[in-house]
Amino acid sequence: MPMICLSDFEAYAKNHLPKMTWEFFAAGADECCTRDDNLLAYKRIRFRPRMLRDMSVMDTRTMLLGTEISFPVGIAPTSFHRLAWPDGEKSTARAAEAMNTCYITSTYSTCTVEEIAAAAPNGFRWFQLYIHRNRALSEGLVRRVEAAGFQGLVLTADLPFTGKRRADIRNNFQLPPHMAVKNFEGVFEEESCSEYGFPPNFIDPSISWNDIYWLQSLTRLPIIVKGILTKEDADLAVRHGVQGIIVSNHGGRQLDGGPATIDALTEIVDTVQDRVEVYLDGGIRTGSDVLKALALGAKCVFIGRPALWGLTYKGEEGLREVLQILHDEFRLSMALAGCHNVSEIGRNLVQFSKL
Ligand code: FNR
Repeated sequence: MPMICLSDFEAYAKNHLPKMTWEFFAAGADECCTRDDNLLAYKRIRFRPRMLRDMSVMDTRTMLLGTEISFPVGIAPTSFHRLAWPDGEKSTARAAEAMNTCYITSTYSTCTVEEIAAAAPNGFRWFQLYIHRNRALSEGLVRRVEAAGFQGLVLTADLPFTGKRRADIRNNFQLPPHMAVKNFEGVFEEESCSEYGFPPNFIDPSISWNDIYWLQSLTRLPIIVKGILTKEDADLAVRHGVQGIIVSNHGGRQLDGGPATIDALTEIVDTVQDRVEVYLDGGIRTGSDVLKALALGAKCVFIGRPALWGLTYKGEEGLREVLQILHDEFRLSMALAGCHNVSEIGRNLVQFSKL
């Protein structure tokens, strides 16, 4: 069966992964309203396409904090890639490098940051940070990330505690014993690991805006804050000196009942007014979703679950296929809407369905 769209990869992953792993990847919090609305919200938006504009020459490239990428889709941070493919994050890094896009590596990776950097030495990577209660551990990790050549630090802001994902509780989800959260290997041996293979209370729930200053004192890397859903927090992020904002609800895995990210985007873009770059993740499944997000002001979008499906299918090659399909669909949508390059994509390209 040829794979022609992202839902083909989803169906493959659902049929081939152990149930516990599939449900961990798919999970949303509580009743999954926000997870599902992330996708449905795109269906409520319609284009206002322009015609007869000579689409013979087109360009999908864009810049992310000064670095060029081949098209405005990167890989969101997701945990435990070795659950999807034996080489785990090394394959992810190679696929992102081959497709010339950005890969945000999770704190919860099953390969070390050094292994990931060595697997794709010319790749463009940011590192996603969860701040540990033991600040020295996080500080050490930030230094390793910088030394390994990562080019940005993404602070996830929406997880003082892990959301209630019913399937994971029912399945008593745990990492298999032959896998580990590699960046912290050896650190937790004395402690009993319960939640997601970590000791309980791994993450510091006290983190606040002041911790942006703490991170700025540790690193010269640009800081991008992930998990912003309101104009108030977007404004605070800008005033604390971050370089980028990722509008995200963690794929609907944290607060159920929050907005779809595409619905939250506009007020944030309007408040930020180009002072920092604004990105989005959540529910991107087609190239036309990417076009809608860019029309509403995102500089770039990131994919979470679809990257895991691609890895499950064929590791690096499977993820490259997922990215290539999104690239081709995005380019085609641009062409059919009359946009030659990303700078021509603007708000007048979309309308909200009256249905
Ligand atoms: C995530 N996400 C996530 N975010 C983060 O900041 N650090 C992490 O370790 C993880 N881990 C993780 C695991 C899994 C299995 C999923 C599905 C998601 C959230 C992720 O970065 C992103 O916000 C969403 O996945 C985007 O939604 P889509 O593309 O999955 O719909």
